[in-house]
Amino acid sequence: MSRLLVFFLLLSVSPTISESDRRCGTDSSRLWLDVVFVIDNSAGMNMYNVFDTIMALFKSNIQIGTGYTDPRSTRVGFVTYNYNATDVADFYKLQSWDTLNSQVQVLKRTPQARTVASYLDTGLNAAVRMINSTAGFRDNYKKMVIVFTSSYGHYRSSPKDIGTYLKSSGVSLVTVNTGSDKNVNAYLKQVASDNLSFAMTDGNVTAEIMKAMTDSEFD
Ligand SMILES: *[C@@H]1O[C@H](CO)[C@@H](O)[C@H](O)[C@H]1NC(C)=O
Ligand SMILES: *[C@@H]1O[C@H](CO)[C@@H](O)[C@H](O)[C@H]1NC(C)=O
Ligand SMILES: *[C@@H]1O[C@H](CO)[C@@H](O)[C@H](O)[C@H]1NC(C)=O
Ligand SMILES: *[C@@H]1O[C@H](CO)[C@@H](O)[C@H](O)[C@H]1NC(C)=O
Repeated sequence: MSRLLVFFLLLSVSPTISESDRRCGTDSSRLWLDVVFVIDNSAGMNMYNVFDTIMALFKSNIQIGTGYTDPRSTRVGFVTYNYNATDVADFYKLQSWDTLNSQVQVLKRTPQARTVASYLDTGLNAAVRMINSTAGFRDNYKKMVIVFTSSYGHYRSSPKDIGTYLKSSGVSLVTVNTGSDKNVNAYLKQVASDNLSFAMTDGNVTAEIMKAMTDSEFD
């Protein structure tokens, strides 16, 4: 079923949401979105500004989680990865801006892994599983995966292929190079969705991701 059709079906069953509300994709506190942050926490990762950039995306009046009268809500999940990936928060865990903020503060205080091994594929696969685990629920909400890393790392299966799979399933894939290696930019560009590979060193990444979040609602 096309997203447009889903959109009109939704309109017909949601009398409280007018067409103009649904089309207004510029209000970043009322997005129809599910986001998984995939964060490299290997020993060599440049964590500078990562968690502040993430928290700056969410205004404190945003509806995090599900079960709101106004259905324009955002589910947020977190995966960290190094040699292996860890599901830090699945789509059920965070149900308010406060719990999101606490989670981010805990992540910010958590020491990085001791291993320098950084397998992007394992992080991406964890995001695929997290999204897939609630398939059938909120399918009409746009999905995004946002990766923060500063290296190529290693892989067992090609991150480009996993990226291709995600993008072909309609997921927007954002990458952020948190380091200064230009070659990493070129590499991540091949993994990310078109025009959605960013770097901390060149511009306001919060603003860039926010634009990607509001734009991607109606891709
Ligand atoms: C990584 O995860 C796999 C699968 O869960 C597990 O078998 C393996 O022992 C883990 N490796 C490390 C180093 O934790
Ligand atoms: C998603 O989940 C379904 C059902 O649990 C499974 O059959 C399918 O292989 C999964 N897809 C991926 C990409 O994990
Ligand atoms: C990406 O940016 C280029 C240059 O601004 C533009 O021509 C192209 O349409 C963009 N692609 C997408 C998918 O937005
Ligand atoms: C970056 O963009 C965000 C969102 O638009 C804005 O709130 C913030 O002030 C900007 N930061 C800088 C340093 O310009």
